[in-house]
Amino acid sequence: MTNTTPGAHIIDGVALSKQLRAQVTQRVQALKARGITPGLAVILVGENPASQVYVRNKVKGCEDCGFYSVLEKYDTDMSEAALLERIDTLNRDPTIHGILVQLPVPKQIDANKVIEAISPAKDVDGFHIASAGALMTGMPGFVPCTPYGCMKMLESIGYDLRGKHAVVIGRSNIVGKPMALLLLQKNATVTICHSATRDLKAMTLQADVIVAAVGKRNVLTADMVKPGAVVLDVGMNRNDEGKLCGDVDFEGVRQVAGWITPVPGGVGPMTITMLLVNTLESAERAAA
Ligand code: GUN
Repeated sequence: MTNTTPGAHIIDGVALSKQLRAQVTQRVQALKARGITPGLAVILVGENPASQVYVRNKVKGCEDCGFYSVLEKYDTDMSEAALLERIDTLNRDPTIHGILVQLPVPKQIDANKVIEAISPAKDVDGFHIASAGALMTGMPGFVPCTPYGCMKMLESIGYDLRGKHAVVIGRSNIVGKPMALLLLQKNATVTICHSATRDLKAMTLQADVIVAAVGKRNVLTADMVKPGAVVLDVGMNRNDEGKLCGDVDFEGVRQVAGWITPVPGGVGPMTITMLLVNTLESAERAAA
């Protein structure tokens, strides 16, 4: 029997990351030849198991590309003052070009205060209000890594966003809002959907591009997708068997979509790749 089921092309985040990281490694070598090694400080407060995996992967990504990286782990009861003091020291450390405090932080620490304490020049996560403002107004600045990675994935398939309808599901400061701004910058017509959206399916059925960034399984199913649409899955969830899965019903949606990103192996590796790009660019700026 021949398989005649139409299927989406897969956008392979591992393969694309490999290409981009090879370019990063070359640029790191060029900087090192000038006596500068890009440095990233990653801070983890507490024991969140998912965060532990993320920070390990971030530090490994750094090492693979020849960066200098430090992983600082602190107890769950670390005070806000102690963390702010640590950030202040790293802000003034010339060997460090990027500072990342893994979120979420324990409840005695105000995440906004922490984000605003990081020097905008070292804000490689792109979470500082200076970075957010730069993105909103089209000024140069650090772009948050996950939406930046999504844009690179669209670029990798040669997708022209001009005049297309992009629907972003989720309105977080980390993904949904910056994603919408980046799509807008490329001349898409953008709709942001969220938990109070009345008829999500009516919105997604109109979309040429869908970005699912909610953090809940099966937010997007095949009946909600226009044939040929591009579907980017930012979700990182576990299914009933404990396996990693996204926000999209991958097996269903791939029958309808034109392009789709898998989980794992899609947006996740791209997020780390763009963190490396941001850190490298910070170091290049400092060296200029
Ligand atoms: N928690 C979940 N995603 C992220 C991220 O991209 N950066 C940081 N710092 N924390 C996160």
